Amino acid sequence: MIDVILGLQWGDEGKGKVVDYFASKYDVIARFQGGPNAGHTLFVDGKKVVLHQIPSGIFKEGTKNLIGNGVVLDAVALQKECEILASFGVDYRKSLFISDRTQLILPTHKALDRASEQSKGNEKIGSTLKGIGPAYMDKTGRNGLRVGDVKDKNFVSKYIKLRLKHQKLLDNFSFQEDISQEEETYFNALEFLRSLNIVSGEYFINQAIDENKKVLAEGAQGSMLDIDFGTFPYVTSSTTIAAGVCSGLGVSPHKIKEVIGITKAYCTRVGGGPFPTELHDEFGELIRKNGNEFGATTGRPRRCGWIDLVALKYTCMINGVSKIVMTKADVLDELDTLKVCESYTINGETTTHVPFQMDKLDIKPVYTEFKGWKKDISGIKSYESLPKEMLHYISHINDYLKIKTHYISNGPGTDQIIEA
Ligand code: GDP
Ligand code: IMO
Ligand code: MG
Repeated sequence: MIDVILGLQWGDEGKGKVVDYFASKYDVIARFQGGPNAGHTLFVDGKKVVLHQIPSGIFKEGTKNLIGNGVVLDAVALQKECEILASFGVDYRKSLFISDRTQLILPTHKALDRASEQSKGNEKIGSTLKGIGPAYMDKTGRNGLRVGDVKDKNFVSKYIKLRLKHQKLLDNFSFQEDISQEEETYFNALEFLRSLNIVSGEYFINQAIDENKKVLAEGAQGSMLDIDFGTFPYVTSSTTIAAGVCSGLGVSPHKIKEVIGITKAYCTRVGGGPFPTELHDEFGELIRKNGNEFGATTGRPRRCGWIDLVALKYTCMINGVSKIVMTKADVLDELDTLKVCESYTINGETTTHVPFQMDKLDIKPVYTEFKGWKKDISGIKSYESLPKEMLHYISHINDYLKIKTHYISNGPGTDQIIEA
Protein backbone atom coordinates (compact mmCIF):
# COMPACT_ATOMS: atom_id res chain seq x y z
CA MET A 1 0.00 0.00 0.00
CA ILE A 2 1.00 3.58 -0.49
CA ASP A 3 0.41 6.59 1.76
CA VAL A 4 0.39 10.15 0.50
CA ILE A 5 1.56 13.36 2.16
CA LEU A 6 0.53 16.54 0.39
CA GLY A 7 -0.15 20.23 0.91
CA LEU A 8 -3.75 21.44 1.28
CA GLN A 9 -3.15 25.16 0.70
CA TRP A 10 -0.95 27.13 -1.71
CA GLY A 11 2.27 25.25 -0.96
CA ASP A 12 4.98 25.58 1.72
CA GLU A 13 2.80 23.92 4.35
CA GLY A 14 5.83 22.11 5.79
CA LYS A 15 5.82 18.97 3.63
CA GLY A 16 9.60 18.55 3.85
CA LYS A 17 9.58 18.59 7.62
CA VAL A 18 6.59 16.28 7.93
CA VAL A 19 7.94 13.75 5.38
CA ASP A 20 11.26 13.80 7.24
CA TYR A 21 9.39 13.11 10.52
CA PHE A 22 7.62 10.08 9.04
CA ALA A 23 10.47 8.92 6.77
CA SER A 24 11.83 6.20 9.04
CA LYS A 25 8.46 4.38 8.81
CA TYR A 26 8.84 4.01 5.02
CA ASP A 27 10.99 1.88 2.71
CA VAL A 28 10.39 3.99 -0.40
CA ILE A 29 9.58 7.71 -0.73
CA ALA A 30 8.59 9.06 -4.13
CA ARG A 31 7.93 12.44 -5.69
CA PHE A 32 5.06 12.20 -8.20
CA GLN A 33 4.77 15.72 -9.68
CA GLY A 34 6.30 19.17 -9.82
CA GLY A 35 9.98 19.85 -10.14
CA PRO A 36 12.54 22.39 -8.93
CA ASN A 37 9.74 24.90 -8.27
CA ALA A 38 9.38 23.04 -4.95
CA GLY A 39 11.49 23.90 -1.93
CA HIS A 40 11.12 21.44 0.94
CA THR A 41 12.97 22.40 4.11
CA LEU A 42 14.30 19.97 6.65
CA PHE A 43 16.94 20.04 9.35
CA VAL A 44 19.76 17.50 9.33
CA ASP A 45 22.14 17.50 12.31
CA GLY A 46 20.81 20.97 13.12
CA LYS A 47 21.63 22.25 9.62
CA LYS A 48 18.96 23.54 7.27
CA VAL A 49 18.62 21.76 3.93
CA VAL A 50 16.21 22.67 1.13
CA LEU A 51 15.35 19.88 -1.29
CA HIS A 52 13.82 20.75 -4.66
CA GLN A 53 13.47 17.55 -6.66
CA ILE A 54 14.83 14.79 -4.45
CA PRO A 55 12.34 13.21 -2.03
CA SER A 56 12.68 14.25 1.61
CA GLY A 57 13.51 10.68 2.70
CA ILE A 58 17.01 10.86 1.23
CA PHE A 59 18.69 11.42 4.58
CA LYS A 60 17.26 8.25 6.13
CA GLU A 61 19.62 5.30 5.86
CA GLY A 62 18.00 2.39 4.02
CA THR A 63 15.17 4.41 2.45
CA LYS A 64 14.92 4.31 -1.34
CA ASN A 65 13.94 7.58 -3.02
CA LEU A 66 12.23 7.73 -6.39
CA ILE A 67 11.74 10.70 -8.71
CA GLY A 68 8.60 9.57 -10.50
CA ASN A 69 7.45 9.97 -14.10
CA GLY A 70 5.06 12.79 -13.16
CA VAL A 71 7.96 15.06 -12.22
CA VAL A 72 9.69 17.51 -14.59
CA LEU A 73 13.40 17.28 -13.89
CA ASP A 74 16.17 19.85 -14.21
CA ALA A 75 19.48 17.96 -14.43
CA VAL A 76 21.53 21.02 -13.44
CA ALA A 77 19.48 21.58 -10.29
CA LEU A 78 19.65 17.83 -9.57
CA GLN A 79 23.43 17.80 -9.74
CA LYS A 80 23.58 20.72 -7.30
CA GLU A 81 21.26 18.93 -4.89
CA CYS A 82 23.35 15.78 -5.10
CA GLU A 83 26.49 17.78 -4.29
CA ILE A 84 24.79 19.06 -1.13
CA LEU A 85 23.79 15.49 -0.22
CA ALA A 86 27.37 14.33 -0.70
CA SER A 87 28.57 17.04 1.71
CA PHE A 88 26.31 15.41 4.32
CA GLY A 89 27.80 12.00 3.53
CA VAL A 90 24.61 10.73 1.80
CA ASP A 91 25.33 7.93 -0.66
CA TYR A 92 22.71 9.05 -3.21
CA ARG A 93 24.08 6.65 -5.84
CA LYS A 94 22.65 3.86 -3.69
CA SER A 95 19.40 5.45 -2.57
CA LEU A 96 18.21 7.69 -5.42
CA PHE A 97 16.27 6.31 -8.40
CA ILE A 98 14.80 8.20 -11.35
CA SER A 99 12.03 7.03 -13.63
CA ASP A 100 13.02 6.85 -17.30
CA ARG A 101 9.63 8.42 -18.14
CA THR A 102 10.36 11.63 -16.17
CA GLN A 103 10.25 14.67 -18.45
CA LEU A 104 13.35 16.82 -18.82
CA ILE A 105 13.40 20.57 -18.27
CA LEU A 106 15.63 22.16 -20.96
CA PRO A 107 17.41 25.53 -20.65
CA THR A 108 14.99 26.82 -23.29
CA HIS A 109 12.05 25.84 -21.04
CA LYS A 110 13.44 28.18 -18.41
CA ALA A 111 13.97 30.89 -21.02
CA LEU A 112 10.38 30.41 -22.22
CA ASP A 113 9.13 30.65 -18.64
CA ARG A 114 10.95 33.98 -18.22
CA ALA A 115 9.76 35.28 -21.60
CA SER A 116 6.15 34.24 -20.95
CA GLU A 117 6.07 35.86 -17.51
CA GLN A 118 7.61 39.09 -18.83
CA SER A 119 4.97 39.27 -21.54
CA LYS A 120 2.11 38.99 -19.04
CA GLY A 121 2.84 42.28 -17.24
CA ASN A 122 0.43 42.76 -14.32
CA GLU A 123 -1.23 39.43 -14.94
CA LYS A 124 1.92 37.38 -14.46
CA ILE A 125 1.53 34.14 -12.51
CA GLY A 126 4.56 34.77 -10.31
CA SER A 127 6.17 31.57 -11.58
CA THR A 128 9.36 30.37 -9.91
CA LEU A 129 10.93 30.65 -13.42
CA LYS A 130 12.21 27.08 -13.24
CA GLY A 131 10.69 26.15 -16.60
CA ILE A 132 7.81 24.15 -15.12
CA GLY A 133 4.96 25.41 -17.33
CA PRO A 134 6.84 25.10 -20.65
CA ALA A 135 8.15 21.63 -19.72
CA TYR A 136 4.66 20.33 -18.93
CA MET A 137 3.39 21.97 -22.15
CA ASP A 138 5.92 19.92 -24.09
CA LYS A 139 4.80 16.79 -22.24
CA THR A 140 1.12 17.23 -23.10
CA GLY A 141 2.08 18.56 -26.53
CA ARG A 142 3.97 15.27 -27.03
CA ASN A 143 7.24 17.02 -27.82
CA GLY A 144 9.14 16.61 -24.57
CA LEU A 145 12.35 14.71 -23.94
CA ARG A 146 12.50 12.21 -21.14
CA VAL A 147 15.19 10.91 -18.79
CA GLY A 148 15.30 7.63 -20.73
CA ASP A 149 16.18 9.59 -23.88
CA VAL A 150 19.55 10.66 -22.48
CA LYS A 151 20.75 7.11 -23.08
CA ASP A 152 19.71 7.27 -26.75
CA LYS A 153 22.55 7.85 -29.22
CA ASN A 154 20.25 10.23 -31.12
CA PHE A 155 19.67 12.40 -28.06
CA VAL A 156 21.55 15.41 -29.42
CA SER A 157 19.56 15.52 -32.65
CA LYS A 158 16.30 15.20 -30.69
CA TYR A 159 17.50 18.03 -28.48
CA ILE A 160 18.35 20.26 -31.44
CA LYS A 161 14.96 19.61 -33.04
CA LEU A 162 13.12 20.69 -29.89
CA ARG A 163 15.49 23.58 -29.32
CA LEU A 164 14.71 24.96 -32.78
CA LYS A 165 11.01 24.77 -32.01
CA HIS A 166 11.63 26.68 -28.78
CA GLN A 167 13.72 29.28 -30.60
CA LYS A 168 10.75 30.18 -32.80
CA LEU A 169 8.64 30.69 -29.68
CA LEU A 170 11.38 32.75 -28.06
CA ASP A 171 11.66 34.88 -31.19
CA ASN A 172 7.92 35.52 -30.97
CA PHE A 173 8.52 36.89 -27.47
CA SER A 174 11.47 38.94 -28.85
CA PHE A 175 13.60 37.16 -26.25
CA GLN A 176 17.22 38.36 -26.43
CA GLU A 177 19.15 36.58 -23.66
CA ASP A 178 22.15 34.47 -24.62
CA ILE A 179 21.71 31.03 -23.03
CA SER A 180 24.70 29.26 -24.61
CA GLN A 181 26.57 29.11 -21.27
CA GLU A 182 23.47 27.60 -19.61
CA GLU A 183 23.34 24.98 -22.35
CA GLU A 184 26.95 24.00 -21.81
CA THR A 185 26.33 23.50 -18.09
CA TYR A 186 23.21 21.58 -19.01
CA PHE A 187 25.03 19.07 -21.19
CA ASN A 188 27.57 18.47 -18.42
CA ALA A 189 24.70 17.83 -16.01
CA LEU A 190 23.17 15.33 -18.46
CA GLU A 191 26.42 13.33 -18.20
CA PHE A 192 25.91 13.28 -14.46
CA LEU A 193 22.26 12.25 -14.86
CA ARG A 194 23.30 9.35 -17.09
CA SER A 195 25.48 8.01 -14.28
CA LEU A 196 22.57 7.75 -11.81
CA ASN A 197 20.07 4.88 -11.31
CA ILE A 198 17.57 5.29 -14.14
CA VAL A 199 14.75 2.77 -13.71
CA SER A 200 11.26 1.87 -14.92
CA GLY A 201 9.58 3.78 -12.12
CA GLU A 202 6.26 1.99 -12.49
CA TYR A 203 7.84 -1.47 -12.08
CA PHE A 204 10.07 -0.18 -9.29
CA ILE A 205 7.15 1.12 -7.25
CA ASN A 206 4.73 -1.74 -7.93
CA GLN A 207 7.36 -4.30 -7.05
CA ALA A 208 7.95 -2.51 -3.76
CA ILE A 209 4.19 -2.53 -3.08
CA ASP A 210 3.93 -6.24 -4.00
CA GLU A 211 6.75 -7.00 -1.58
CA ASN A 212 4.74 -5.27 1.16
CA LYS A 213 7.24 -2.48 1.41
CA LYS A 214 5.90 0.76 2.92
CA VAL A 215 5.72 3.44 0.24
CA LEU A 216 5.12 7.16 0.72
CA ALA A 217 4.24 9.60 -2.07
CA GLU A 218 5.47 13.14 -1.31
CA GLY A 219 3.46 15.94 -2.88
CA ALA A 220 4.92 19.24 -3.99
CA GLN A 221 3.15 22.62 -4.19
CA GLY A 222 -0.37 22.55 -2.74
CA SER A 223 -3.89 21.56 -3.75
CA MET A 224 -4.93 25.19 -4.37
CA LEU A 225 -2.13 25.32 -6.98
CA ASP A 226 -3.45 22.22 -8.78
CA ILE A 227 -3.82 22.65 -12.54
CA ASP A 228 -7.51 21.61 -12.47
CA PHE A 229 -8.81 22.54 -9.01
CA GLY A 230 -6.53 25.39 -8.00
CA THR A 231 -7.09 29.10 -8.56
CA PHE A 232 -6.60 28.83 -12.33
CA PRO A 233 -4.75 30.41 -14.11
CA TYR A 234 -2.70 31.29 -11.00
CA VAL A 235 -1.61 27.70 -10.48
CA THR A 236 1.27 25.42 -11.29
CA SER A 237 1.15 23.05 -14.27
CA SER A 238 0.90 19.66 -12.55
CA THR A 239 -1.69 17.55 -10.76
CA THR A 240 -0.78 18.29 -7.16
CA ILE A 241 -3.72 16.39 -5.63
CA ALA A 242 -3.86 12.74 -4.52
CA ALA A 243 -5.11 11.65 -7.96
CA GLY A 244 -1.73 12.72 -9.34
CA VAL A 245 -0.07 9.91 -7.39
CA CYS A 246 -1.63 7.29 -9.68
CA SER A 247 -0.54 8.86 -12.97
CA GLY A 248 2.65 10.35 -11.56
CA LEU A 249 4.01 7.03 -10.34
CA GLY A 250 2.01 4.40 -12.22
CA VAL A 251 0.03 2.95 -9.31
CA SER A 252 -3.59 1.92 -9.06
CA PRO A 253 -6.03 3.98 -6.93
CA HIS A 254 -6.72 0.73 -5.03
CA LYS A 255 -3.21 0.88 -3.62
CA ILE A 256 -3.62 4.24 -1.90
CA LYS A 257 -4.25 4.02 1.84
CA GLU A 258 -3.79 7.14 3.94
CA VAL A 259 -3.95 10.61 2.43
CA ILE A 260 -2.26 12.86 4.97
CA GLY A 261 -3.00 16.50 4.27
CA ILE A 262 -0.91 19.32 5.68
CA THR A 263 -2.22 22.76 6.53
CA LYS A 264 -0.58 25.62 8.31
CA ALA A 265 -2.45 27.00 11.34
CA TYR A 266 -2.85 30.07 9.13
CA CYS A 267 -2.36 30.49 5.37
CA THR A 268 0.31 31.73 2.96
CA ARG A 269 0.72 32.13 -0.75
CA VAL A 270 3.74 33.15 -2.82
CA GLY A 271 3.30 34.55 -6.32
CA GLY A 272 0.20 36.10 -7.86
CA GLY A 273 -3.45 35.11 -7.69
CA PRO A 274 -6.48 35.31 -5.40
CA PHE A 275 -6.11 34.86 -1.65
CA PRO A 276 -9.37 35.79 0.10
CA THR A 277 -8.03 35.77 3.69
CA GLU A 278 -4.83 37.70 2.92
CA LEU A 279 -3.82 40.22 5.58
CA HIS A 280 -2.36 43.57 4.61
CA ASP A 281 -1.98 44.78 8.18
CA GLU A 282 0.29 44.35 11.18
CA PHE A 283 -1.03 40.80 11.79
CA GLY A 284 0.11 39.70 8.33
CA GLU A 285 3.47 41.31 9.04
CA LEU A 286 3.74 39.56 12.41
CA ILE A 287 2.96 36.17 10.89
CA ARG A 288 5.53 36.74 8.13
CA LYS A 289 8.16 37.70 10.68
CA ASN A 290 7.44 35.00 13.29
CA GLY A 291 6.88 32.32 10.65
CA ASN A 292 9.91 33.40 8.62
CA GLU A 293 7.61 33.39 5.61
CA PHE A 294 10.06 33.82 2.76
CA GLY A 295 10.13 31.39 -0.19
CA ALA A 296 12.50 28.42 0.19
CA THR A 297 13.14 28.40 -3.58
CA THR A 298 12.99 32.06 -4.59
CA GLY A 299 13.39 33.94 -1.28
CA ARG A 300 10.30 36.03 -2.11
CA PRO A 301 8.22 37.24 0.88
CA ARG A 302 5.14 35.04 1.23
CA ARG A 303 1.73 36.66 1.45
CA CYS A 304 0.13 35.77 4.81
CA GLY A 305 -3.44 35.50 6.04
CA TRP A 306 -5.91 33.66 8.29
CA ILE A 307 -6.73 30.00 7.79
CA ASP A 308 -9.40 29.54 5.13
CA LEU A 309 -11.72 26.65 6.01
CA VAL A 310 -13.77 27.05 2.82
CA ALA A 311 -10.68 26.31 0.72
CA LEU A 312 -9.46 23.70 3.19
CA LYS A 313 -12.72 21.77 3.18
CA TYR A 314 -12.62 21.83 -0.63
CA THR A 315 -9.09 20.44 -0.81
CA CYS A 316 -9.88 17.80 1.83
CA MET A 317 -12.79 16.72 -0.39
CA ILE A 318 -10.78 16.62 -3.63
CA ASN A 319 -7.97 14.64 -2.00
CA GLY A 320 -10.00 12.34 0.25
CA VAL A 321 -7.87 13.42 3.19
CA SER A 322 -7.89 10.88 6.03
CA LYS A 323 -5.61 12.66 8.50
CA ILE A 324 -4.55 16.25 8.97
CA VAL A 325 -1.22 17.62 10.13
CA MET A 326 -1.32 21.23 11.30
CA THR A 327 2.02 22.99 11.07
CA LYS A 328 3.41 26.28 12.34
CA ALA A 329 0.89 26.58 15.18
CA ASP A 330 3.72 28.13 17.23
CA VAL A 331 3.83 31.10 14.85
CA LEU A 332 0.49 32.30 16.30
CA ASP A 333 1.69 32.16 19.93
CA GLU A 334 1.77 35.95 20.42
CA LEU A 335 -1.63 36.82 18.98
CA ASP A 336 -4.49 38.02 21.23
CA THR A 337 -7.14 37.00 18.72
CA LEU A 338 -7.20 34.54 15.83
CA LYS A 339 -9.61 34.44 12.95
CA VAL A 340 -10.93 31.51 10.96
CA CYS A 341 -12.73 31.98 7.64
CA GLU A 342 -15.86 29.80 7.50
CA SER A 343 -17.69 31.18 4.46
CA TYR A 344 -17.37 33.76 1.70
CA THR A 345 -19.72 36.60 0.85
CA ILE A 346 -19.77 37.17 -2.91
CA ASN A 347 -22.12 39.81 -4.35
CA GLY A 348 -24.11 39.81 -1.10
CA GLU A 349 -24.60 36.03 -1.11
CA THR A 350 -22.96 33.72 1.40
CA THR A 351 -21.37 30.50 0.25
CA THR A 352 -19.21 27.75 1.70
CA HIS A 353 -18.11 26.62 -1.78
CA VAL A 354 -14.95 27.57 -3.65
CA PRO A 355 -16.22 29.47 -6.70
CA PHE A 356 -15.09 29.21 -10.32
CA GLN A 357 -12.41 31.80 -11.09
CA MET A 358 -11.83 33.34 -7.69
CA ASP A 359 -9.71 36.12 -9.20
CA LYS A 360 -12.63 37.68 -11.02
CA LEU A 361 -14.80 38.01 -7.89
CA ASP A 362 -14.91 40.29 -4.90
CA ILE A 363 -14.77 37.67 -2.16
CA LYS A 364 -15.31 38.81 1.43
CA PRO A 365 -14.28 36.21 3.99
CA VAL A 366 -16.68 35.71 6.92
CA TYR A 367 -14.71 35.07 10.11
CA THR A 368 -15.21 33.49 13.50
CA GLU A 369 -12.88 34.83 16.16
CA PHE A 370 -10.94 32.84 18.70
CA LYS A 371 -9.01 33.85 21.77
CA GLY A 372 -5.25 33.44 21.34
CA TRP A 373 -3.30 31.18 23.71
CA LYS A 374 -0.52 33.74 24.36
CA LYS A 375 1.99 31.10 25.36
CA ASP A 376 5.20 29.71 23.86
CA ILE A 377 4.19 26.22 22.72
CA SER A 378 7.44 25.33 20.90
CA GLY A 379 8.76 23.15 23.73
CA ILE A 380 5.50 21.28 24.42
CA LYS A 381 5.71 17.52 23.88
CA SER A 382 2.20 16.22 24.61
CA TYR A 383 -1.25 17.05 23.27
CA GLU A 384 -2.73 17.38 26.77
CA SER A 385 -0.17 20.05 27.64
CA LEU A 386 -1.22 22.36 24.80
CA PRO A 387 -3.07 25.50 25.96
CA LYS A 388 -6.83 25.06 26.17
CA GLU A 389 -7.47 27.98 23.79
CA MET A 390 -5.40 26.19 21.17
CA LEU A 391 -7.20 22.88 21.70
CA HIS A 392 -10.45 24.78 21.24
CA TYR A 393 -9.14 26.32 17.96
CA ILE A 394 -8.12 22.89 16.65
CA SER A 395 -11.29 21.12 17.71
CA HIS A 396 -13.37 23.80 15.98
CA ILE A 397 -11.42 23.23 12.75
CA ASN A 398 -11.81 19.45 13.11
CA ASP A 399 -15.56 19.83 13.53
CA TYR A 400 -15.83 22.06 10.45
CA LEU A 401 -13.76 19.72 8.28
CA LYS A 402 -15.10 16.52 9.86
CA ILE A 403 -11.52 15.23 9.82
CA LYS A 404 -9.23 14.91 12.79
CA THR A 405 -5.99 16.85 13.14
CA HIS A 406 -3.74 13.93 14.11
CA TYR A 407 -0.50 15.87 14.43
CA ILE A 408 0.41 19.40 15.46
CA SER A 409 3.80 20.74 14.46
CA ASN A 410 5.12 23.35 16.90
CA GLY A 411 8.48 24.25 15.41
CA PRO A 412 10.74 23.62 12.42
CA GLY A 413 12.72 20.83 14.14
CA THR A 414 11.97 17.24 13.11
CA ASP A 415 11.13 16.36 16.71
CA GLN A 416 8.78 19.33 17.18
CA ILE A 417 5.59 17.48 16.42
CA ILE A 418 2.83 16.33 18.75
CA GLU A 419 0.45 13.43 18.16
CA ALA A 420 -3.14 14.15 19.15
P1 GDP B 1 7.23 22.77 2.06
O1 GDP B 1 7.47 23.36 0.73
O2 GDP B 1 5.81 22.38 2.27
O3 GDP B 1 8.17 21.66 2.41
O4 GDP B 1 7.52 23.95 3.12
P2 GDP B 1 8.78 24.94 3.10
O5 GDP B 1 9.97 24.21 3.52
O6 GDP B 1 8.83 25.70 1.82
O7 GDP B 1 8.32 26.00 4.17
C1 GDP B 1 8.00 25.64 5.47
C2 GDP B 1 8.89 26.44 6.44
O8 GDP B 1 8.38 26.36 7.75
C3 GDP B 1 10.31 25.89 6.54
O9 GDP B 1 11.19 26.96 6.78
C4 GDP B 1 10.24 24.97 7.74
O10 GDP B 1 11.50 24.81 8.37
C5 GDP B 1 9.29 25.71 8.62
N1 GDP B 1 8.44 24.87 9.49
C6 GDP B 1 7.86 23.67 9.24
N2 GDP B 1 7.05 23.31 10.24
C7 GDP B 1 7.12 24.30 11.16
C8 GDP B 1 6.47 24.53 12.42
O11 GDP B 1 5.67 23.76 12.92
N3 GDP B 1 6.78 25.71 13.06
C9 GDP B 1 7.66 26.62 12.56
N4 GDP B 1 7.88 27.73 13.24
N5 GDP B 1 8.27 26.44 11.37
C10 GDP B 1 8.00 25.30 10.69
P1 IMO C 1 6.47 23.70 -2.48
O1 IMO C 1 6.56 22.26 -2.92
C1 IMO C 1 4.67 27.62 -3.02
C2 IMO C 1 3.77 28.85 -7.11
C3 IMO C 1 4.58 29.99 -7.69
C4 IMO C 1 3.57 30.58 -8.64
C5 IMO C 1 2.84 29.35 -9.17
C6 IMO C 1 3.35 28.84 -10.51
O2 IMO C 1 7.72 24.22 -1.89
O3 IMO C 1 5.27 23.89 -1.61
P2 IMO C 1 5.52 27.55 -11.30
O4 IMO C 1 6.98 27.84 -11.05
O5 IMO C 1 5.08 26.24 -10.76
O6 IMO C 1 5.12 27.78 -12.71
O7 IMO C 1 4.77 28.69 -10.46
O8 IMO C 1 3.00 28.35 -8.19
N1 IMO C 1 4.58 27.71 -6.58
C7 IMO C 1 4.74 27.47 -5.28
N2 IMO C 1 4.33 28.15 -4.20
N3 IMO C 1 5.33 26.45 -2.87
C8 IMO C 1 5.73 25.74 -3.94
O9 IMO C 1 6.28 24.52 -3.84
C9 IMO C 1 5.48 26.26 -5.24
N4 IMO C 1 5.75 25.85 -6.50
C10 IMO C 1 5.18 26.74 -7.32
O10 IMO C 1 4.98 30.90 -6.69
O11 IMO C 1 2.65 31.35 -7.93
MG1 MG D 1 8.31 25.09 -0.13
